Amino acid sequence: MDPAAAEEFLRQFHAETEPGEPLADRLRAVRSEIDRTGTYRQTTAELTFGARIAWRNSARCIGRLYWQSLQVRDLRNLHDAADVAQESVAHLRSATRGGRIRSTMTVFAPDTPARPGPRIRNDQLIRYAGHRNPDGSVTGDPSQVAFTDHVASMGWPRPQPAGRFDVLPLLITGPDGRPRLFDVPPDAVYEVPLRHPEHPWFARLGLRWHAVPAISNMPLEIGGITYPAAPFNGWYLDTEIGARNLADPDRYDLLPEIATRLGLDTRSIRTMWKDRAMVELVRAVTFSFDADGVTMADHHTESERFLRHLEKEEAAGRSCPTDWSWIVPPMSGSQTPVFHRYYDEPDPELRPAFLEPHGF
Ligand code: ARG
Repeated sequence: MDPAAAEEFLRQFHAETEPGEPLADRLRAVRSEIDRTGTYRQTTAELTFGARIAWRNSARCIGRLYWQSLQVRDLRNLHDAADVAQESVAHLRSATRGGRIRSTMTVFAPDTPARPGPRIRNDQLIRYAGHRNPDGSVTGDPSQVAFTDHVASMGWPRPQPAGRFDVLPLLITGPDGRPRLFDVPPDAVYEVPLRHPEHPWFARLGLRWHAVPAISNMPLEIGGITYPAAPFNGWYLDTEIGARNLADPDRYDLLPEIATRLGLDTRSIRTMWKDRAMVELVRAVTFSFDADGVTMADHHTESERFLRHLEKEEAAGRSCPTDWSWIVPPMSGSQTPVFHRYYDEPDPELRPAFLEPHGF
């Protein structure tokens, strides 16, 4: 635990907000707490501020206009795997709100000199299993095959028959380092069945996706303190599901089937069957989320909002580190304003920040 990191963070907190306590008092108290214990405890206001700044500093996120609205659930008193599992499920319920999704983070116990904090091994709180078949093909999400095999080897009973959208259990390690499995109750997993505004056959494909993307394997670092379990969610952008999760060749790879149903000629790439099928898949995603009243952004609107965020950051005298290759949407890039410019270089030293994901 680096006292300079604590000091730098507290200075920023005091510069950007108006906390009642004078900075000098807080710095003195934190220094002596670090001397005595090797760490310090942040106030809930400091934690909330730090979490929001970590979002604001996320160079890959197009949704940062809303950084100040992040709801922070301060559960730093929780260490045990079972408590973390229960409150991760509660996180999902409170973030979902029947479809009116709220950006939320739950912060569990930090790493301290006395003991490590808990860890959530899943990359998101909700993920669909990937089942490897004997012929090498995958049923479900191919990105989850290794994790699915891992939890199955720990005793997770794979659904029989294997489905394309089987929600994985949570795999959580408490301070004792012992990994444990917990089911996510189905009523905490809000899902949208996908249909198309014009093609009735689309609904019969039986596709669906969950409403809440909740990243759970990126440690949060604030003022020198690392919170290894700090799951956070926003709401989905249409293209994340329609142009990536369901379309990438190494994910659900659905474009060939959709193109065929659309009657497109898939023998020549030059018919643009991939491009045309992708548009219809993304349309189906947006249409279905809208019809079910589940918050979803579209890539055109969100691109404009991101430029507004950049203007606000510039007006506040801050740089806004941004990764072009993540910000430009994976379809129709040039039709969004974020395509046509360069950005401040991401700075790997910038804090508060979400750190590289830990593996499972
Ligand atoms: N791209 C990831 C997914 O499709 C989610 C990443 C976070 N997305 C968000 N809108 N907050 O599952």
